[in-house]
Amino acid sequence: MLKSIELPTVALVQRRDGVSQPTDSLSERLASLLESPSLDAELDRDVGTEERLIHLARDLARAAYPEDRTTDRHTAHWIEHSARSDFHRALLLVYRQHTQIPPAGRPTYQFHPFICRMMRELEGPWERDVLRRVRKTAGISLEDLPSDPKEFAGWYQLAAFNHPLYEHDLYAFLASDATRAQLEWFLRMECAGEAAFDDLVALAQVGTRGEVKMEMASNYWDEMGRGRDHAVHTHLFHQLIDDLRIAAPDANELPWEVLSGINLMIWSCIHRRNAYRAQGVLGAVELLAPQRCTRVVHGATRLGIRKKTVVYYGAHAIIDIGHAEGWLQHVIEAQVREVPDARLGIAEGLLARVDASLDYFDFCLAGAGRVT
Ligand SMILES: [Fe+2]
Ligand SMILES: [Fe+2]
Repeated sequence: MLKSIELPTVALVQRRDGVSQPTDSLSERLASLLESPSLDAELDRDVGTEERLIHLARDLARAAYPEDRTTDRHTAHWIEHSARSDFHRALLLVYRQHTQIPPAGRPTYQFHPFICRMMRELEGPWERDVLRRVRKTAGISLEDLPSDPKEFAGWYQLAAFNHPLYEHDLYAFLASDATRAQLEWFLRMECAGEAAFDDLVALAQVGTRGEVKMEMASNYWDEMGRGRDHAVHTHLFHQLIDDLRIAAPDANELPWEVLSGINLMIWSCIHRRNAYRAQGVLGAVELLAPQRCTRVVHGATRLGIRKKTVVYYGAHAIIDIGHAEGWLQHVIEAQVREVPDARLGIAEGLLARVDASLDYFDFCLAGAGRVT
């Protein structure tokens, strides 16, 4: 859950003469700025600060997502991992302004012009990479995608199930081979990845109407445990963390392969220009959840963990079968019937989500394998 990610609050490095000296990590500098009681006062203190930070963001985004490269697998030799991780920590800090209510007494800078500029600088190169990667899949254009709403929904489902992510080795490993320490390491990563789905569905439905909005409302109500406090999905996830005494990781422990998946979901849901992409992203989550949740439950049961502890996964292994069917019929199909051009955004959202999940699963399989 996103709220369990506590980004590090990093103070500016003190020089020997007592004057604060900024680090060259954008996420650290941004974290310090966002903690200040007045962002305006901080920026006014030194007239060049804003421009320097914007340039730092521009350079970081270009280093993380070079113009002449497109991400394929997370192990590609040209990827600057430290730049990407700093990039996604910084972007998550910006996105948190849109998704979290700050603790009492702390300011929020959601639509501060500096934060808006920062978001634009960071999103540009990353978004270009995401969409170039998506278009490597043949037929991602309005001319090539099926125009009949039902056929399009069928295409959408098959595109998810034919992606290399489906039946990923990570889940066979978790189900059959992982040790308890390896499974718990994976569940720590999941603390970050299970980003408050309820809020994302709420954000995604803004501006939709009719059948689409109704399905999202029903999905949201399920997230809320249909009004039963103990069945709220985020509570079920907390039960897992509490029972296993798992400590949610700090964002500075998390690499870009984890953070980019969270940022992708928020990116799709907070911008109205991405409304159809959000439908593609969230539908992919529903479609792929039953299979992966079933494997996690198998692994946990094999290792002697009580079913009640992993009820979050057990519940989603079943509920999300219905959610996927509902989403296909009442969001994807209904949206395309209403707005035929929505097909492109929906297709892009689906593929962007499964590409990001592939990086995450690859990373988790390699990472869990190193846990002894
Ligand atoms: Fe859920
Ligand atoms: Fe669901």
